[in-house]
Amino acid sequence: MREGFFSDPPTVPPRWFYDEKGSLLFDRITRLAEYYPTRAEAEILRSRAVDIVGDATTMVELGAGTCEKTRVLLDVFSRRTTAPPAGAAAPAGAVAPAGAAPPAGAAAEASPLFVPVDISTEMLFDSARALAAEYPGLRVEPVVADLTALDGPLPGEPGGRLVLFLGGTVGNFSEAQRADFLDMLRGVMDPGDRLGLGFDLVKDPARLVAAYNDADGVTAEFNLNMLDVISRTVEARGLDRRDFRHEAVWNAEESRIEMWLRAIRDVRIDFPTLGRSRTLDVGAGIRTEIARKFEPYALMDELAGHGFLRGPVWTDDAGDFGLALVVVD
Ligand code: AVI
Repeated sequence: MREGFFSDPPTVPPRWFYDEKGSLLFDRITRLAEYYPTRAEAEILRSRAVDIVGDATTMVELGAGTCEKTRVLLDVFSRRTTAPPAGAAAPAGAVAPAGAAPPAGAAAEASPLFVPVDISTEMLFDSARALAAEYPGLRVEPVVADLTALDGPLPGEPGGRLVLFLGGTVGNFSEAQRADFLDMLRGVMDPGDRLGLGFDLVKDPARLVAAYNDADGVTAEFNLNMLDVISRTVEARGLDRRDFRHEAVWNAEESRIEMWLRAIRDVRIDFPTLGRSRTLDVGAGIRTEIARKFEPYALMDELAGHGFLRGPVWTDDAGDFGLALVVVD
């Protein structure tokens, strides 16, 4: 906040969208007629589940949330038997925090391992428990972590991991953040591990803008809710939602949608704890999110530059959304 809000233009990291209300609003967004990415990605996961799972012995999902979109892969993955790992494994159907010692006397069962990673502890453990009950053939080891700051090798067998980063969230990073993220991922993965990356594709700007400015105003509410989250969390004064309007624009030069909160009158925002304030003239904006849209082959080149070798790229039938499956060199 301190860095972003006082830069030009003022920016706020998108993580500030997600209090409980923001998470519920995002859930509604994924079901909107205009918001195609979630449905398009689900279509790819459904039709390519067997190819995506391949011979993975460990599946790691970054930003797993409710693990809803992964179920179609878990249906395939949980039925696989894998070669016994070195040492004993936790029994299938159990939830164990990553790194926990196996229970004494546990059989060296070779059941596939699912590692959902998320920052939201409660949601993560709830969904991990539900999955363990639903998929008796699966070991579930949730990891609470900021997915941009993973350290140490990921759980599971080196070379047998499938790491998933879905939903197109990679588009919410700046160019520099994306480069750092890919380097970090490369650092916690081993040769032979695969990365499944979901990304949104460049298309007609009118459709892109509509996806981020829906007719029912759900995305507008999602954007404005950020002001309430900030005001509550960092004791900002003057971030009044009645002084701002939601805006989504296509920035062709940067190939991205930008979400803004545009001041509809002059406003002054005070941060008493920082001892700083900032004025915004009418028409000035706060950039709350970027959503980069990709050309598939440019993204593959970029991945190769970070040590991820080319693999298949699939799209949904309409060609709206892509999923790249690349392997660590
Ligand atoms: C989470 N992320 C991939 C969404 C997107 O499409 O960039 C966030 C979002 N913002 C507004 N609508 C959806």
